[in-house]
Formats: sequence, C-alpha cells, structure tokens
Amino acid sequence: MEEKNIKILYIGDVIGEPGFNFLKENFQILKDKYQPDFIIANAENITDGQGTLERDAQKLLGLGIDVLTGGNHSLDKIQSHKFFQASENTLRPLNYPKGVYGRGFGIYEIKGTNLSIGIINLIGRVYMKIINLIGRVYMKPLECPFRAFDYAYDIISKKTPLIFVDFHAEATAEKVAFYHYASGKCGVIVGTHTHIQTADERISEKGTAYITDVGMTGAYDSVIGAKKEGSLTIQ
Ligand SMILES: [Fe+2]
Repeated sequence: MEEKNIKILYIGDVIGEPGFNFLKENFQILKDKYQPDFIIANAENITDGQGTLERDAQKLLGLGIDVLTGGNHSLDKIQSHKFFQASENTLRPLNYPKGVYGRGFGIYEIKGTNLSIGIINLIGRVYMKIINLIGRVYMKPLECPFRAFDYAYDIISKKTPLIFVDFHAEATAEKVAFYHYASGKCGVIVGTHTHIQTADERISEKGTAYITDVGMTGAYDSVIGAKKEGSLTIQ
C-alpha cells in the first residue's frame, strides 16, 4: 500500500467571539503554512465562552474545519441538544452519562485520499464533576474515559489505523495516565480544557504523539479566555 503522510491541524478551545474572529483572520495563513489534510477544533466554548449553539458550530465548520470536539460545556445550551443529536461531525465527550444527546466518536473520510480517520472525544473525571446538562437537572456521574476509549477503539480500529483523541480534562496526571494507557493505539492524543498550553509534547516509543494541553484560541489579556475582572475578587 502506498505510504502517505497525513497532516492534522488541531485548534485548541476556541473561546467566544474573540477566539472565532482571530481564527477566522488567521485560518488561511495556517492552512497555507501547514497544508493540513484534516482539521479539528475544540468548540465547547465557542458560544459566549460556554456551549456550542448550532449557529456557532456552523461558523467554525464553514471555515473548513472537518470535525468539532467538545468537553464539559458542550451541552450547556439546551437549544443545542437537538443539533448535537443530528450532527455527525460535532462531537461531545463519549463518556458523558448514558442517554445524553450527541455522539462521542466518529470515522471520517480524509478528503483527497482513500483514507479515513477515527476521532474520539473523551472527558476526564478528576476535578470535572460539574456537568451542566439540561438545565442542571440531568446530573449523573461521568463514565470511565478509559473504558469508553476501549469501546470506540474496538470499533474504529477495524476500519482504520488512524485514530485521534481529544482528552478534555483538568488534571495533568489523568491526561498523562491516559497517554500511557492508549500509547500505541492512537496516532495522536491531545489534551484540552485548561486553556494553558503545556510544554511536554512527545512521541512515545510506540509512535503516539501527545501533549497534555494544547492551550486555547482566545483573548490573551484574560483569565483563560474570560474577562479577568471576574476572577480578581477576594473571597
Ligand atoms: Fe472545558
């Protein structure tokens, strides 16, 4: 089989209008520079910093992004739930409680090739107990992300060896532990959620690229993308 290098452009958490506007202005520059075959972005904060309304997801997809991933805020907006249920390329974490709208993984064609890629979106459980689903009524524990990964991996690996994971979590240790768990099974594991980029990017002996957190696409003069004044109070 002919070998081909696949380039994936991954864009960390896009935060509200400032994040979207910056991405829009620089999107073509990024495409020209890196010539990606497939583009993924985390969209859980695209709607006013919390949530993913359809209109905002479509703005991102309209730029040419192939798949949107999410996290703890994905379903914050109740108006977005039917969109998540219908959309095939807007993911929320796979290990959300059973019965929640949407999907957590998918297999997608890489345009211009005869290849496909599996994308898995997971959420960590350490310091991630707050999930605001269906107006705070629907609160159940998150499922195990490791077990959820095994479930998706069994399905995807029968169809393609190319697997990308967005592990959305607060605790660095949980993300590193997952890296060791899934090393050799995925091409790439990126961490998201903290909005602060880490400097521990690596490729494992088994060939899995990993970074604990890719950081955000949002306002720099802020507290992780939000107005800083809101975080400067003494309690
Ligand atoms: Fe998050």
